[in-house]
Amino acid sequence: MTRIGRADLAADREAAAALLRAGKLVAFPTETVYGLGADATNGAAVAAIFAAKQRPAFNPLIAHLAAVDAVGEFAVWNDAARALAQAFWPGALTLVLPRRDDCAIALIASAGLDSVALRVPSHPDAHALLASVDRPIAAPSANRSGRISPTTAAHVRDELGEDVDMILDGGPCEIGLESTVVGFRNDQPVLLRPGGIAMEQLEAVTGALEMVEEGAAPSSPGQLASHYAPAKPLRLNATEAVGDEILMGFGTAFDPATNLSPAGDLIEAAANLFALLRRLDRAPGRGIAVAPIPETGLGRAINDRLRRAAAPRS
Ligand code: TXA
Ligand code: MG
Repeated sequence: MTRIGRADLAADREAAAALLRAGKLVAFPTETVYGLGADATNGAAVAAIFAAKQRPAFNPLIAHLAAVDAVGEFAVWNDAARALAQAFWPGALTLVLPRRDDCAIALIASAGLDSVALRVPSHPDAHALLASVDRPIAAPSANRSGRISPTTAAHVRDELGEDVDMILDGGPCEIGLESTVVGFRNDQPVLLRPGGIAMEQLEAVTGALEMVEEGAAPSSPGQLASHYAPAKPLRLNATEAVGDEILMGFGTAFDPATNLSPAGDLIEAAANLFALLRRLDRAPGRGIAVAPIPETGLGRAINDRLRRAAAPRS
C-alpha cells in the first residue's frame, strides 16, 4: 500500500529516507514538480522508476543532490557551470556535466551516456530528504510517461497509486514547471530544455546561449549525444554468436557471464544494460549478438535502446 506522509514531519521523512536507501521508490516535492525518486547509485532501483512510469524508452534522468559541494564527486565542473550553479542553485536549474570515471551514479540513470544531469533543489522538504538519505536521488517527474507533470501529492497518488512505495506531501509546487536543463559543448553552455529559470536569467550570467531542441541530433558527437551507441555493430534477436561475435544473453538459456539477467528478470536486465554493453564493447570480438528480449514491461525500453544502438550510424 502506498503510504502518504507529510514531508515536513521528521518521522515521515526518515521513513522515506530509509525506503530510498533500501532501493524503493518515493515521490517527493520539489519547487518545480513532484519527482519519482530512487537511489541513483542503485541500478535496479533506477530501473524500477522506468517500470513505474511505464516509459517505453530510457531517457537520462536528473540526479538530485543536497549540496553543491557534492557535484565534484560525480561530475567534472567547468567555469560556466560554476557561474550558473553560483547564481541559480539551489533552484530550478539542471546542469548536464561530464561523468567522472569513478561516478557512483548508475549508468542507467544517465542512459549510458558519458554525461550526468545534476540538480540541487531549493524546496526545503526535498533538501531535508536528500540530506537525510545522503546519496544522489534520481527523479523524473512523478507521472506516467506521456502525461503532465504532477504539482501536488494528490496528482502523484492519482497517477502512480500503488506503483510508488511512499509519497511525501509537501503541498503544491511553487514553480509548477520542470527545471531548465543546460548542457555544455566545449564548456560553452547550451540550453537543452526550457524550464523554471528563464533563458534571459541564464544569459545575464553566461552571455548568449545556444538552444538545442530536445532529441535533436548532436552536432558535436559524444558531447550532447541523445543516446549511447557502442562502437561495435549489434545484431538483435540472435540465438547464438556467429564468427567473431560476442553474445549478450538474457535468461537461463544463455551463459550467465555475459547475461543481462540470467534469471530473465527485466528490471535486472535494465539495470545491467548499459554497463554490459560497455563491457562487451571493450571485450575482444568484432560484433555483439544480442539474445531476444521480450517486448513487455521494461523489455520495451530495453529493445528501444538496443534498436537505436543497432541502427546504422552516419
Ligand atoms: O524539475 C525537474 O527537472 C523535475 C524535478 C523532479 O526535478 N525532473 C524532471 O526530470 O523533469 P525528467 O527526467 O522528466 O527530465 C530530465 C531532463 C530530460 O529532458 C532529459 O533529456 C535531460 O533532463 N537530461 C538528463 N540527463 C541528460 C544527459 N546526460 N544529457 C542530456 N540531457 C539530459
Ligand atoms: Mg517529465
